[in-house]
Amino acid sequence: MADKLGLGIDLGTANLLVFLEKKGIIFNQPSVIAFDRESGQIVAAGKAAHNMLGKVHDKISVIKPLKNGVISDMKAAKELLTYVLKEVENLTEKDLTNTSCVMCCPSEVTRIERDIIIDLARHMGISDVLIDEEIKAAALGANIDIFKSKGVMVVDIGGGTTDVGVLSFGDIVLSRTIRMAGTYIDTELAKQIKQNEKVEIGELTAEKCKIDLADLRSDAAEKTNRYAGRDIVRGIPKWVDVSSKDVNKVVVPTYEEVVKLISAVLKDTPPELSADIYQHGIHLTGGGSLIKGVEEFISSRIKVPVSVVANPLTCVAEGSKYLLKNRGDYLVNPLKL
Ligand SMILES: Nc1ncnc2c1ncn2[C@@H]1O[C@H](COP(=O)(O)OP(=O)(O)OP(=O)(O)O)[C@@H](O)[C@H]1O
Ligand SMILES: [Mg+2]
Repeated sequence: MADKLGLGIDLGTANLLVFLEKKGIIFNQPSVIAFDRESGQIVAAGKAAHNMLGKVHDKISVIKPLKNGVISDMKAAKELLTYVLKEVENLTEKDLTNTSCVMCCPSEVTRIERDIIIDLARHMGISDVLIDEEIKAAALGANIDIFKSKGVMVVDIGGGTTDVGVLSFGDIVLSRTIRMAGTYIDTELAKQIKQNEKVEIGELTAEKCKIDLADLRSDAAEKTNRYAGRDIVRGIPKWVDVSSKDVNKVVVPTYEEVVKLISAVLKDTPPELSADIYQHGIHLTGGGSLIKGVEEFISSRIKVPVSVVANPLTCVAEGSKYLLKNRGDYLVNPLKL
């Protein structure tokens, strides 16, 4: 029998990344799929489907299969993954039966949510599936050695969840997840603009506003940009001016919640591990770590050094390579294999 294919899947709320052993990351695009409502046929997936959000007619349904870090639409998730694997690598269900697959998930998911991920893999024809935590994969993918008996803290701020974990000796010692991250900010920002300016903006515009204007630095200069939306009273297109101050009204409280979560985890961390973290700092991963000034914002409140890893958007998928090697065994340091 041919060698098993090794596949690592980071099915995130915002982005889907697929890692294929011996090839590397073969897909890195938004977790979005578009179907023709009548025939059920796939119209687009990934970036092309993401660009359709809020822009297509009724005959097309554009779906994000994940909400807050977990699968909310199993059929769409399966179709998205199957489509991507076929399109990019021409992998069929037959190839998938001979595959070892690691799927990453937030650290605090329910048993049912984990079972749904296993079901998804099984529905795709994959029988050998391993579920492991994103923060563990993220640490390995960022080349952080978690196999020493030394406390390492990883904070992953993604689209749907913020995950804080303390790792030592190859596994997670403690962790907490909140279902609040980038997408929450986009939604709240759109709500705030609607309420204050009486202009409705779409989710793509809200995300752009955040990426353009959010700035957590204490000395950040104020900036204003103009975005297109719809006047909710008259129903006609309208420009709206949004300032960095408006955006920060949503961003700052969200990052204060992240700080609270980190503090809560630190409070429960055994003292020896906590001493390691104070000495070596906190590692940030995920798209939410790309907001300007995030290190300063967190470190000034927690009084611990904070740094963003070199590959915040891809480290989970890159780390799946190592999880495929050690298959959850904390005694096997895959960074050294
Ligand atoms: N430069 C940036 N500034 C602010 N936010 C950003 C930036 N780049 C990306 N993001 C945000 O990061 C989020 C996506 O991050 P990531 O890809 O880590 O999430 P995910 O893995 O799909 O989600 P999750 O792990 O929560 O399921 C989006 O909300 C996006 O708007
Ligand atoms: Mg993620």
